[in-house]
Amino acid sequence: MGGRPEAPGAPLNAPLVPASNFLLGTERVYSRTEATETWEAFEDVIGGLEGGEAVAFASGMAACAAVMHRMPDGGHLVLGDDCYLGVAGLAEAGERDHGWRVERLPVADERWPERAGAADVIWLESPSNPLLEVADVERICAAPRRADATLVVDNTFATPLFQRPLALGADVVVHSATKFVGGHSDLLLGVAVARDPDLAEELRETRGLTGATPGALETFLALRGVRTLPLRLRQASASAAVLAERLAEHPAVARVRYPGFGAVVSFELAGAAAADAACADARVIRHATSLGGVDTTMERRGTHERQEHVPPGLIRMSVGCEDVEDLWADLRRALGG
Ligand SMILES: Cc1ncc(COP(=O)(O)O)c(C=O)c1O
Repeated sequence: MGGRPEAPGAPLNAPLVPASNFLLGTERVYSRTEATETWEAFEDVIGGLEGGEAVAFASGMAACAAVMHRMPDGGHLVLGDDCYLGVAGLAEAGERDHGWRVERLPVADERWPERAGAADVIWLESPSNPLLEVADVERICAAPRRADATLVVDNTFATPLFQRPLALGADVVVHSATKFVGGHSDLLLGVAVARDPDLAEELRETRGLTGATPGALETFLALRGVRTLPLRLRQASASAAVLAERLAEHPAVARVRYPGFGAVVSFELAGAAAADAACADARVIRHATSLGGVDTTMERRGTHERQEHVPPGLIRMSVGCEDVEDLWADLRRALGG
């Protein structure tokens, strides 16, 4: 229950503070560099959930870019072969513009602990987007690495409800808070949570210099969203497990990918045309990108760039909070019975 005002007579919820500047006389001067009460409260809650010091950003990509900023010119980055396409884009840009050596490993590869030992930045996304591959986060976090290395876990899909990487030894956790943390598809927000307060300070500095600051309204909404994260995710994950099981039995479905927890299910149809038709025919399930909201959404991921490794008929479905039988009836209809 972090992020709550404590003073007698204070409102129960942290107030929405839309401010760019403050009356001089304290450390709070200008809200690109000093937090407003609203984002302080949001950071307090997420920091508490992940077990570190949280730094909120304007989007998940802003958080990822700030952490990736730790890569030195000519440095060595180890990254999963399946990961959010924006992060793959950052790696490509680093390779091209800063001489990074980018090593892409299958997410579940045995060599991660060994490869982590030599890297500047080890970037784990587990479960991965969109193939839902799962890494041995515990083993990789426990493996020896250089004192100046940064081990990052993108916890967007698992959320701290299913995985707490800092407790396992990761240096930083990043989130697209746009997704499950916000939970209502009405904001863009990111957060990086560091185990070491010095690293959190470095990230705050990068945020201030690049102007990647979160909006007041976004943090207010995300703060409200995160209060129901356990309820939403419990419902959505239970439904996702049921749908994954039923989809696996459906004759139109070639393969189901579900890690056994969480609210995202990916499944493969015969090809791109079949997947496009299913997405277009669904009614309860909205044909939309992104994930983590109360509404179930699905889309064919092969429509995006940097998804050449994704089977053309793969649909990524983010299960929301609707009745599971309504979702199954809709899916069955969209899949042709
Ligand atoms: C795993 C993961 N990380 C990072 C991001 C980037 O977040 P945002 O879209 O909030 O910038 C996304 C977005 O889909 C994502 O799925």
